[in-house]
Amino acid sequence: MHVVVDPSGGSIGVAQGGTIAHSGDGGLPLLASLPPTYPEWLGDRSFGETHGVRFPYVAGAMANGIASTRLVIAMARGGCLGFFGSAGLSPGRVEASIVELGRELGSQHAWGANLIHSPNEPALEDAVVDLYLRHGVRKVSAAAYMALTPAIVRFAYKGVRRGPDGRIERAHHVFAKISRPETARHFLEPAPSKILEGLVASGGLTAAEAELARGLPVAEDITVESDSGGHTDNRPLAALFPTIARLRDDIAAQRGYARPIRVGAAGGMGTPASVAAAFGLGAAYVVTGSVNQGAVESGLDPEGKVMLAQAGIADVTMAPAADMFEQGVEVQVLSRGTMFAARARKLYELYRAAPSWESIAPADQQRVERDLLRQSFGDAWASTEAFWAERDPEQNRQAHADPKHKMALVFRSYLGRSSRWAIDGVGERRLDYQIWCGPAMGAFNAWAKGSVLEAPENRSAVQIAYNFLEGATAITRASQLRSFGVPVPAAAFDFRPRRIA
Ligand SMILES: Cc1cc2nc3c(=O)[nH]c(=O)nc-3n(C[C@H](O)[C@H](O)[C@H](O)COP(=O)(O)O)c2cc1C
Repeated sequence: MHVVVDPSGGSIGVAQGGTIAHSGDGGLPLLASLPPTYPEWLGDRSFGETHGVRFPYVAGAMANGIASTRLVIAMARGGCLGFFGSAGLSPGRVEASIVELGRELGSQHAWGANLIHSPNEPALEDAVVDLYLRHGVRKVSAAAYMALTPAIVRFAYKGVRRGPDGRIERAHHVFAKISRPETARHFLEPAPSKILEGLVASGGLTAAEAELARGLPVAEDITVESDSGGHTDNRPLAALFPTIARLRDDIAAQRGYARPIRVGAAGGMGTPASVAAAFGLGAAYVVTGSVNQGAVESGLDPEGKVMLAQAGIADVTMAPAADMFEQGVEVQVLSRGTMFAARARKLYELYRAAPSWESIAPADQQRVERDLLRQSFGDAWASTEAFWAERDPEQNRQAHADPKHKMALVFRSYLGRSSRWAIDGVGERRLDYQIWCGPAMGAFNAWAKGSVLEAPENRSAVQIAYNFLEGATAITRASQLRSFGVPVPAAAFDFRPRRIA
């Protein structure tokens, strides 16, 4: 028996005796017929309607402009949604980028930018929200929020109003990226009264906006982040997604919200089958990251893209994060072709064990100065101090009072610069490249091997998206057919990469 699954719709031909068949191939027994299905229908239909995008597909934010304006523009023009990677960039660079996006995409295309929680720099978070409101950024992807801040609450509810038909309309949309139920809860509930009252008092929200906010969740799009590149709790999607969807259902029922809250899936999307699986779990939309970093539109240097294209599924590891180094927070990075992870781990071990740089064993000091800092600790401190003098002088005051903090700032400067070296292509620092990456990259490389998407220069984020979406549609149809009792062969679940117009 041979089964032919046509991804775009129509009947499915099933021939006996090994003959390939299409419906309408006269004389072959037609065993099953399915109505058409389309990539546009894989997710929640309200996703496209609310956000003005054709496909339920999002290119996630990638820090330091790796999710570049070029990437966001390409995704938007291709009918998908992209978030600019503003984390780690100066307010000036963020402003120039969102002005460019507004000019290139206007209001016809959907796009957004990242809003990253900065517990150590609340003023920065507020400044970024000011920029977004001033330049008409309508969607943000909110990340790293352990708790809500006035800045994100202000963005979420600014401009909320009751429309002529009595329904509440939002001017802004928060996509909340979460990997734990307790953080998801903050976004699924309305913002706490205390924050709303504070914002009314400071003029951040009007009394009318705050009143409407009391009956609205902070976010109506919740992105469940499973094992991914960058910050991750390494949870499998199949375990995490249903847990968050259940929580969403419980809170929505308790609160009696007028509109559904969508739950999307991120992490591990490296093949069409991964995307089909996410939609099979009920995802309203999918978010990709690692595979887009390897695409031509990303801000990573081409050398880094070649390294990514060589990664296998196990060529990733956890390493200390620059932003929350002292707390022991980790990020998932590429381990093949770079020593960053091992070196960063060594710095964390030294930091944990020693009260100051001076108390570290001389052999370790030498190794750090020679291989990592490539200068003396004293010289490294001088440039670190100059950096913080401009950015946040309080850090320098703390460092003078506490030698352990001084050591942390110097070690963090290595971690922070290592990702810039990979973006800028500083070849002499190749062994120190910090490239955030999840197992999705290796899965993608295995799938793309021998195809048009194998060479890094052929990998466009839009082609990847279209292949994932069309492939997920074909695989979904194969699953549908199988569930009708047809013996569908394994080949029907294998969608090969191709150029898609
Ligand atoms: C290089 C890189 C940088 C990232 N930076 C950010 C970021 O600044 N903010 C954010 O919310 N997510 C960030 N992410 C996560 C992505 O937006 C996305 O959720 C994730 O990569 C999806 O999982 P995947 O890597 O398995 O595809 C980053 C991911 C990568 C690979």
